[in-house]
Amino acid sequence: MGRAIIVTGAGRGLGYSITRKHLDMGDRVYAMDYNLTDELRSLAESSERLKICQCDIGSTESVSEAVKDVLAEGRKLDIIYNVAGIYRFEDKVGLEQTDLDAGMQMFNVNALGALRICKAVWPLIQEGSLVVNISSEAGSVGASRRKQEYCYCMSKAALNMGTKILSNELWDRSARIINFHPGWLRTPMGGPGAFASKHSVSPDESADNIVNIAVNIDEVPGDQMFMTHTGDILPW
Ligand SMILES: NC(=O)c1ccc[n+]([C@@H]2O[C@H](COP(=O)([O-])OP(=O)(O)OC[C@H]3O[C@@H](n4cnc5c(N)ncnc54)[C@H](OP(=O)(O)O)[C@@H]3O)[C@@H](O)[C@H]2O)c1
Repeated sequence: MGRAIIVTGAGRGLGYSITRKHLDMGDRVYAMDYNLTDELRSLAESSERLKICQCDIGSTESVSEAVKDVLAEGRKLDIIYNVAGIYRFEDKVGLEQTDLDAGMQMFNVNALGALRICKAVWPLIQEGSLVVNISSEAGSVGASRRKQEYCYCMSKAALNMGTKILSNELWDRSARIINFHPGWLRTPMGGPGAFASKHSVSPDESADNIVNIAVNIDEVPGDQMFMTHTGDILPW
């Protein structure tokens, strides 16, 4: 029997690539997204091992509803990929122009969304389970050189703190948690610049790297928790 996997943000971009990769590996995948895209639906038609669930990770009610089937099946979760996230190009401005009120939604989705998912499937996170949070180098306080994007950077820094506290709590049940910067992705969130730049990465390549590290997590030292998709350590 393959692994049991949850992927949020599975409708497109990095989450979709991670979903496809685990299906190719023979795993059972619960794919969650706000919008269930045509690509995800047709993937579900071609594989009985893929269960798709509409889910807004910004809403506790929606998350509780979405995980009902996962809880009913009752399998220990091998890997939970918290990929779903939001970004606003309007926030690429200094503080004077920043809409701080719009930042509340970003915090709710980017920082609290991953914890909502983990909380909802809490009994299924067991010995040997792994939580993978897709953060960003934008959330690294130690490496920050930016003068804009307050809300996105702060939401990912908050996710990083949530990761650290959760890792302390999961230590007791021998489960692990790890955060990745997935690279500058050639996705709508990466923006037109990513498609034109040689410094960006395709979601498939980033997914390959992340999944490869995740399934070989025993080779990663226990205190290494925040890294790029190629395994380079990032400062908190
Ligand atoms: N793109 C980059 O260059 C970059 C760099 C660093 C980190 N990251 C992080 O990497 C992750 C994936 O990025 P990506 O480029 O693949 O993004 P993407 O193409 O925009 O995909 C994000 C997915 O998350 C879903 N989503 C958004 N809000 C949601 C919610 N409340 N509930 C459930 N699903 C929701 C989106 O659904 P809809 O289709 O409905 O919007 C979409 O399917 C994000 O966490 C992002 O912050 C990205």
